[in-house]
Amino acid sequence: MNFVGAKMRNFPNNPSTLFIGQNYIYLAETQSTNLSLKVQISESMVPEGTVISTGYQTNGKGQAGAVWDGAKDQNIMLSLLLNPKFINLKDQFLISKAMALSVHDFISGLLETEDVKVKWPNDILVSGQKICGILIENGLKGEQIEYCIVGMGININEVFTDQKRTSLKTITGIDYNLRYLEKILFTCIEARYLQLKNHPEIISKAYLEELFGFQTPMRFVDNNTNYSFNGVITGINEDGRLIVKSDQGFKTYNLKEISLPAIT
Ligand code: BTN
Repeated sequence: MNFVGAKMRNFPNNPSTLFIGQNYIYLAETQSTNLSLKVQISESMVPEGTVISTGYQTNGKGQAGAVWDGAKDQNIMLSLLLNPKFINLKDQFLISKAMALSVHDFISGLLETEDVKVKWPNDILVSGQKICGILIENGLKGEQIEYCIVGMGININEVFTDQKRTSLKTITGIDYNLRYLEKILFTCIEARYLQLKNHPEIISKAYLEELFGFQTPMRFVDNNTNYSFNGVITGINEDGRLIVKSDQGFKTYNLKEISLPAIT
C-alpha cells in the first residue's frame, strides 16, 4: 500500500503550481535527467518549469564529477528548467540557495524531526545524514544565465543502512507515493523561486539559518594541504565560497578545496 506520509505540515491535499512541473516528462530510464533536459533544450523551445523525471539513471551525475546512484523506482530523480534572467551572473549562487531551501522545506514538512539542515553548498541532511543532492548546471550567454538545469536526487523509499545516507522511508518506515510527493516538491520549489525573484535577501538569510555548522566550531580538512583544522563557518561569499574562520584568520573555499564532517 502507498502511504503519503505521517505528517503533512502545511501541505495541501491537491498541490498545484503555476509553472513548475506543468510541463512534466517521465522517462522510465535515462542516462541522466540533467543530460536529457540539456538535449531537449538544444533541440526545441522548452518552457520554464519543465521537469524531466525518471525511475532509473544509468549514468547519474553528482557534484564535482561524482556518480549519483539510486535503486530503481524508489527515489525522486529529476531535472528542472529555470530561466532566471533576473539573477546576475555574479549572484548565481542565489539559485543554489533557493533550490536547497525548497528541498529543505519539502523534507522538513514531511518529518517530525527539526534536524533538517542544508550542507553547503546544497546537500540536505537529516540528523547529519544525506537525504538529497542537487546538481545545478548553468548555460551562459555572455554575462547572462540563459538557462539553469536543476538536478535533484531525493532519497525516498530506498532503505539505507550506512551512516552517511538516509531516506524518508529509512526514517519513518512509510512507503511514499513518488508522483504525489513530486507535486508537493514543485509547490516548495515554486514558492522559493518566486521569493528569490522578489526578496533575494530573505533567501540569503534563510539559507544561513538552515546551514549545517553555521557559527558552530567544527573540524575541517583543507584538501589542498590535507591538514585538518578547527574552524567555524561564518558565512558564504557572493561567489558561493564558504567562509571559514580559524586561528589563521578568515579563508574562503570552493567545493573541492575543503571537506566538512557530515556528522559532528
Ligand atoms: C550530489 O552529488 O550531491 C548531486 C546529485 C544530483 C543527482 C541528481 S539525480 C537527477 C539529476 N540527474 C543527474 O544526473 N543528477 C541529478
